[in-house]
Amino acid sequence: MLFSRRLTTAMTVTLSRTQRRFVLPEDRLPTHYYNIAADLPVAPPPPLHPGTREPIGPEMLAPLFPMELIRQEVATDRFIEIPEEVREAYRIFRPTPLHRATGLERALDTPARIYFKNESVSPAGSHKTNTALAQAYYNRAEGVTRLATETGAGQWGSALALAASIFGLALKVYMVRVSFEQKPYRRSFIESFGADVVPSPSRDTSAGRAVLEADPDSPGSLGIAISEAVEDAGGRDDTKYSLGSVLNHVLLHQTVIGQEAVEQMGMAGDEPDVVIGCAGGGSNFAGIAFPFLRERLSGATATRFLAVEPASCPSLTQGEYRYDFGDNAGTTPLLKMYTLGNDFRPAPIHAGGLRYHGMAPMVSHLVDQGFVEAKAYPQTTCFEAALQFARTEGIIPAPESSHAIRAAIDEALEARESGEERVILFNLSGHGHFDMAAYDAYLSGSLEDAPR
Ligand SMILES: Cc1ncc(COP(=O)(O)O)c(C=O)c1O
Repeated sequence: MLFSRRLTTAMTVTLSRTQRRFVLPEDRLPTHYYNIAADLPVAPPPPLHPGTREPIGPEMLAPLFPMELIRQEVATDRFIEIPEEVREAYRIFRPTPLHRATGLERALDTPARIYFKNESVSPAGSHKTNTALAQAYYNRAEGVTRLATETGAGQWGSALALAASIFGLALKVYMVRVSFEQKPYRRSFIESFGADVVPSPSRDTSAGRAVLEADPDSPGSLGIAISEAVEDAGGRDDTKYSLGSVLNHVLLHQTVIGQEAVEQMGMAGDEPDVVIGCAGGGSNFAGIAFPFLRERLSGATATRFLAVEPASCPSLTQGEYRYDFGDNAGTTPLLKMYTLGNDFRPAPIHAGGLRYHGMAPMVSHLVDQGFVEAKAYPQTTCFEAALQFARTEGIIPAPESSHAIRAAIDEALEARESGEERVILFNLSGHGHFDMAAYDAYLSGSLEDAPR
């Protein structure tokens, strides 16, 4: 008894020395987005017109996006001011906390210090709200009244539904069928904010009907859903298209994550040796990584950057770096990116947001230039990591985020092997509260690793 009480006292002393959360006040919310294009030693290859194979001009994007987002797509200014209305909306949940994962560190018995940025506190449950609010604002500012979009896991559709309702826009969401069926409450969430949502492939567009004719049981994919949303927006004057990842302006909006994290790591008195994010289209990875990459590009740090993808949809680790369409039907401009081919049909894994055949051109460029490393994991090993994280840190992560957690744990285990004090930072891109069917499958032993 005496022994155990002493032990408790000793543990309390150790615990009280380690701060667990680093919280910024509201007035430290970033005032600008950080544009990495200003600091790149080599500019990324431009998007091309599929017919002429010449770089596209704004006129090709104008039917789909408002002018300010097209401007941001090609901007080279280092900082772009965040409008006050968007900052006000961000203050619903930003700045988000940075956590020191002391529970996980202890469980792993590692000398590494593990930090994570907690984007799961957004009301829609993920980092996607950062760009959703900005995109809804810029569309409304240019007189748009309706948006069309796709959603993979449902996180993006939820975030845009919330943002559309805040800025008074109508919204139609094409939700990848497998997620629509796996996650009925994501659909209810989207509808709660007044948006329409249909499973994709749907009968509402010719792209959807073509896929259903060839394969009536198609589980859908992000590539197919993008084709449907683009067709919807292209066919109506009141509607623009909104994309939750891949494009430069989306990555730009996500840099609020990394800018806050730079300041919070300073509060913690640490500098990351490695920054990790899961990567589907590349936006949350870019969001956490780019503000730290700025320091690396200037030669001030030697930080490593690691993008983590599913083994069943391994665009960065097994794809080719070439021009390809961003969607399945081949209606977008050609983007230079790591791709598995726009006809690649990813297996219906539970990390729906990572089922994309390509990768953001900006992230692809940084991988090609050697600034970013990539790694792929099968889903069961990610769920194992997710539960270890949940049981030590108290948060059930999104299946997408569990890929970053897996890599962070492996980095910490490597540090244990080598006895190194590695500082690891990862982005917790979202929570998994709508993904309990996936956790059920894992816990009951019925979850399998999908083939590529
Ligand atoms: C929680 C979460 N993390 C990550 C992703 C992957 O997207 P991205 O690579 O653009 O961050 C998604 C996409 O839906 C998501 O919902």
